[in-house]
Amino acid sequence: MSGALFRLDNRLALCASFVREGTRLVDVGTDHAYLPVWLARNGKIESAVACDVRVGPLENAKNNIQQYHTETIVSAVLSDGLDKIDPENALDIVMAGMGGELIAKIIKKQQWLCDNRRRLILQPMTRAESLRLFLCENGFRIVNEKACVSGKKAYSVMVCEYDGIKREPDEEFQYIGLLAGNSSYEAKRYIHTVNEKLKKKLRAYDENSEAYQRLAILTKHFDGYINS
Ligand SMILES: C[S@@+](CC[C@H](N)C(=O)[O-])C[C@H]1O[C@@H](n2cnc3c(N)ncnc32)[C@H](O)[C@@H]1O
Repeated sequence: MSGALFRLDNRLALCASFVREGTRLVDVGTDHAYLPVWLARNGKIESAVACDVRVGPLENAKNNIQQYHTETIVSAVLSDGLDKIDPENALDIVMAGMGGELIAKIIKKQQWLCDNRRRLILQPMTRAESLRLFLCENGFRIVNEKACVSGKKAYSVMVCEYDGIKREPDEEFQYIGLLAGNSSYEAKRYIHTVNEKLKKKLRAYDENSEAYQRLAILTKHFDGYINS
């Protein structure tokens, strides 16, 4: 028998908070399946598919699905991205803990994601700026974005919906999305992390170059958010 249900860490809890009540969920790159199992046990979803491209993580998922008696709600599927997923079962789609470029690649492969009834909940570990750019250029609107701190790191989770309008985001939006002007501790921590990386990048540029001047303005701007 399972013991008490585990708690989600702040990162997965923020992802969970964006999942719509009663939805049919897919968790891509699920590994342990903590997110769908937790949502199922809390009665928040109709169904979930926990999928992963690797056998080992999928075994972890299956074990947890069984241990917490959620087999009637959560199924485990071996799948590269959404390749093996029935679109009927994918109203809310979470992709957390993977790189931003990989998440963009997974979205790009599935034309059926271009559908305003679906919600994408995305938490990139790296290259979030590439993911935001991809979303904007491909008709996905970031409708909500929040930051959290888990362990010692800050993360951003974005909620996206397809509206077909292609956008050209400026650099600020690419780097911090809807967290611009958000004065929460978590958002400031996230912007601080982004800014430290940009400042490091800046040191490699020639001070007279246009790229240096542009980035220097951006980092000062972000300093302003952090210190506000
Ligand atoms: C760091 S874990 C994240 C686990 C969980 N989503 C979380 O955020 O805590 C990343 C998982 O993504 C899986 N993964 C990597 N590429 C994938 C792909 N193309 N399709 C599905 N899963 C993938 C890996 O096997 C791994 O289990």
